Amino acid sequence: MNIKDIINKKNNNVIITGEEIDFVVNNYVSGRISDEEMTRFLKSVLNNGMTFEETYNLTITMLNSGNIMSFDEIEGILVDKHSTGGVGDKTSFVVLPLAASCGVKIVKMSGRGLGFTGGTVDKLESIEGFKTELDYTDLIKQVNDINIVMISQSNNLVPADKKIYALRDVTNTTESIPLIASSIMSKKLASGSDKIVLDVKVGKGAFMKNLGEARELAKTMVDIGNKFGKETIAILTNMDYPLGYTIGNSIEVIEALDTLDNKGEERFTKLCLALASYMVSLGKNESMDKAVKEVEDAYYNRKGLKKFKNLISYQGGNINNIDVPNNSIKIYSNMDGYITDIDTMKLALLCNNLGAGRKNKGDQINHKVGIRLNKIINDFVNQGELLMQVYTEDSIDELEYVNCITIGERKIEEPKIIYEVIE
Ligand code: URA
Repeated sequence: MNIKDIINKKNNNVIITGEEIDFVVNNYVSGRISDEEMTRFLKSVLNNGMTFEETYNLTITMLNSGNIMSFDEIEGILVDKHSTGGVGDKTSFVVLPLAASCGVKIVKMSGRGLGFTGGTVDKLESIEGFKTELDYTDLIKQVNDINIVMISQSNNLVPADKKIYALRDVTNTTESIPLIASSIMSKKLASGSDKIVLDVKVGKGAFMKNLGEARELAKTMVDIGNKFGKETIAILTNMDYPLGYTIGNSIEVIEALDTLDNKGEERFTKLCLALASYMVSLGKNESMDKAVKEVEDAYYNRKGLKKFKNLISYQGGNINNIDVPNNSIKIYSNMDGYITDIDTMKLALLCNNLGAGRKNKGDQINHKVGIRLNKIINDFVNQGELLMQVYTEDSIDELEYVNCITIGERKIEEPKIIYEVIE
């Protein structure tokens, strides 16, 4: 077996075998296949795609490259949730405590990653003292006590993905459905949960720009999870506009707390309640109608809020000391009208430039910086009224921020929150 022949097969649309995929991935991880050869392989996958069988085999090979977690000491069904990534994506801080307060068991492992803002773990670290690494016994005790833990994923979780993802990032080979599906699902299958809810984001602020691609990715991931024996569902959700009001790190944690306290932005709240209901339905094997009622009760009675606060204190965090911003620049509207569009990606990039995310692995995150929108889609704004606040100590080009917002005479059609569910 050799890499050249395998790449030739792929380039000629001949299906490659599980052994050949093992050969490529394992030899790349051990250094016997070079970055250049692997890039040629990844490009041939990007250009020619993979059958479901090939994608599944790639997932399993990657899964087997590191530790596969199992949490046998935790009683009950463990449910995981994964978002393919959005702008202002703080859903985990709302959805997971709500589901846990309804009795669902959750071990949530998250990455740091490169992105417009930090990852879930970085955002949690804006809470003073919050520990994102726990001993196995503490983790088990915490889940048995309060149903939920949120930690950073270990270095030995799918090391093949780490190496391949880093290469994809610099060789323009990220946007391939088989590569994305196998990357995400290998990590989900290694994380030890019994069932998986995937929040597949679609739109201007997401990886997947249109419903067709998102559906294909979602279906591939759902089929991988189910074939592996873990019940998996995917919810296709709207990512045309930032989620809620904030993009940043600490300000997103604070918005999540407000949302759990029934003071959140309406569309974002609806999204979180729906995702939590899917988790409860799956985790407790009950109908969606029953799950929706339980989640609403948990929301209105602040059980989710209590659970999140409980989680923070169990993991050593001091909720009274979140790294809040101390300076903001106010951006005002230069005309009257309805907000008809938001340049979500541009806002995300501006937020990254403020220091909220990493440009390179190992960069320090600034937890305090970020953007708080004061007006969102279909809100009316008067000339001279506050559009947004930019949290930063530095000077900014205000026009760049104003230009991210389009104002028109009429409201747009109310954006959908959830497009469809794939089971
Ligand atoms: N997230 C991942 O973990 N992998 C991808 O390939 C894309 C998004």
